[in-house]
Order: sequence, then C-alpha cells, then structure tokens
Amino acid sequence: MSELVPQRIAHLRGEIERHNYQYHTLDAPLITDAEFDAMFRELQTLETQYPSLATPDSPSQRIGAAPLLSFAKVVHRSPMLPLNNAFNEEEVRAFDTRTRETLGVAEVDYSVEPKFDGLAVTLTYRDGIFVQGATRGDGEVGEDVTQNLRTIRNLPLRLDPGRLTKPIPFIEIRGEVLMFKVDFIALNREQADKGDKLFANPRNAAAGSLRQLNSRITSSRHLSFLAYGAGAVEGFILPDTHAEQLECLQKLSVPVPQQRRAVHGVDGLLAYYREIGELRHKLPYEIDGVVYKVNNIAQQSKLGYVSRAPRFALAHKFPAEEALTTVLDIEVQVGRTGALTPVARLAPVFVGGVTVTNATLHNEEELRRKDIRIGDTVSVRRAGDVIPEVARVPT
Ligand code: IVH
Repeated sequence: MSELVPQRIAHLRGEIERHNYQYHTLDAPLITDAEFDAMFRELQTLETQYPSLATPDSPSQRIGAAPLLSFAKVVHRSPMLPLNNAFNEEEVRAFDTRTRETLGVAEVDYSVEPKFDGLAVTLTYRDGIFVQGATRGDGEVGEDVTQNLRTIRNLPLRLDPGRLTKPIPFIEIRGEVLMFKVDFIALNREQADKGDKLFANPRNAAAGSLRQLNSRITSSRHLSFLAYGAGAVEGFILPDTHAEQLECLQKLSVPVPQQRRAVHGVDGLLAYYREIGELRHKLPYEIDGVVYKVNNIAQQSKLGYVSRAPRFALAHKFPAEEALTTVLDIEVQVGRTGALTPVARLAPVFVGGVTVTNATLHNEEELRRKDIRIGDTVSVRRAGDVIPEVARVPT
C-alpha cells in the first residue's frame, strides 16, 4: 500500500467531518451535496480496499453497520437521574425559596434550557473519540446503542480539541436524541406511502428509530442530538458553572441548545418560561417544558439530591396541548400508494396555537380501538405539535 493511502483517508475523514459539522450543527454548508458525496464515496472505496485502515470514528460509520441480534446492557458510570416537575408558578416559587434558604443567599443564578421531548442518552468519549453510547434505561442500566448513535450526523465522532494540548482522557456527555418536526413529517409521509405504520409523534419516531437492531435503518431516519450537560469526567477540569460547561462542550463541537440562557432569581425563571412558551411552536423540535438549573456547580453539590432527583434542578412543564371538540364526519383518505387513512372532520377548535378542523385517526385498527363515531365529543391533541390526532373519547 502506498503511504499516501493512510494520508488520503485521514484527509477525507477530516474534511467530511468538518463539512458534516458545518451542515448539521452550524447549518452553514460550505460545499455542495455532490462534492460532499464524492468525498464520502472515495473514503468508502478506500476503506473497502484497505479494511485494516477502518476506524470506529470514521464518518463512513454514519451509514450504519451489520445488524445486531440484541443490544448489550451498559451500567452507567454515574446514574441518569429524573427531574422533579413543576406545573405552575407556585411550585417554581417554592423551588426558588427552598434553594435560597438552603444556600443562604438572597438571589440565585440559574442556567435555563428547553426541556427536549426526546430520548435521554449518554455518550462516552475516550481520548476525544466517541467509543460508547447508551440509552437511559432505568437510570442505572441502559442499552448499548453506539452503532445507532454513530449514524446521527450532528453527533461528533471525535471531539474537537480546539486549543487543548491533548484530548480529554474521559468524558461522558449527556443529552437527548430528537427527531426534528420536518424530519418527522417526512418520515410519516414515507411510511404512509409504503403502507407502513405511522408514528404518533416525533418522540415515538425517535425512540423507534434509535432502538433499531439494524443501524442502517437508524441512519436513514434523520435523528439529531442535543447535549444538556456532562456526566463523569476524568483528567480534565470542567468550568465551575453549568452555563460555562455548555460553552465548553460547544467548543468541543458538541451541539448544545441555542435557547439556553443565564438568568437571576425566580422572576428570571418565569420570564424565560413565558419566552420559550411563545417560541415553542417555532422551534424545529418538540419541547415539553423548560429546565431550571442552579448555575454554580459548588452550589449544586451543596443542594444535592433527594430521593434520586437533584434538588438543584427543576423541570417546569408546559400544559398538555389538548382540547375538546365534536366529530362532524369521518372520511377515508386514499394515499398515493393506496394506503387508507381515516380522518375525522371536527368542529373547529383552538389547540397548540392553531385552529384544528380535522385530525388523523391513523388507520382502521386505531379507529376501531378508539371506537370514535360521528357526533362524539373527543379530545384533540397536536401529536408532535404537527399533525392533530384524536387522543381519546372522554368518559
Ligand atoms: S438535566 C441531573 N436538562 O428530562 C439532571 N434533562 O425528567 C439531569 N431532559 O432524563 C437532567 N431536556 O432526558 C436535563 N435540558 C434538559 C433536558 C433534560 C430533557 C430530560 C432528560 C431527563 C429527563 C428528566
């Protein structure tokens, strides 16, 4: 083998990942799809020709690998904990009061983020290379979905060391796998065309896509990753506030939520809740609330945990987007490939920021199961905040 081959492979990998980052994380492509595809094909050809040069962090891994028989179990190095929820302003005020009292301060600095409605995962990087990824599972033990996670285009296979003199020896990055609303709509359209089952919402679509034994299917599903924090770290000292830790992750090329903010006191929390509530339907992905975190890590440690949930963080949930209306008629739509979808025509009702006049009943089986008839009062939900569906008949 010419010594130019390893060099060429390294060059292609670097360029492909750089353009992946430009396209999928920064949303600022520098080259055409055709130019990108040409580099990708050249890399694949070389790796096929010289299998000994294949590596787990090669972008060629993003198209998936041989199917698995089952997922291995992974014991999380530090548990993946749930969050306490608040459903109204009083509960948020009580959280802030408790926090101030425990810390003995007049005002608390918080770091605030959207609460992504996806699937929690933890990513392990050794010497800057993505080596393992797992689902949350029961919080202690999850499933090894490494190969599936490698197909997620904005998930770095290698952290960008930036100005670090050596890569971070060990770091766990925690976040959520999501399907963007546009990708969900496109997937359901494809499913309908193929006569396959529709997904109820982007969260279910993301879960179904990530838990595929065949990572080539995951690769075709356009999932995205967003980090909300770090887990265990070794051989590196992270900054001492949550907000700076997210900045640090961003510098390492990890995608972090754009809508994150640093705010002061409970008024800052409630203002953020209102701001994101208004922005909710314009975001490219689904959220089901916002998360408040005490910004200072030393203060977080002082607050600690109570019955497994951190006392330094709180999820403030948005109200469920459901409303009652009447079924005026039930029609059957015929898809391009002949797939039949029953659709309920509804008395107009305002839900999730739009007026809904019809809703999918998905398929005949679903229609029978829910036993929905003309004249019924039904609860309409904006599934995935996109396609309205009849959620249930209230009794
Ligand atoms: S922080 C120790 N931040 O919500 C705190 N979680 O109800 C760890 N989630 O399992 C979680 N968005 O999957 C955090 N911005 C965010 C989040 C977030 C969504 C999920 C996460 C977690 C669940 C807890």
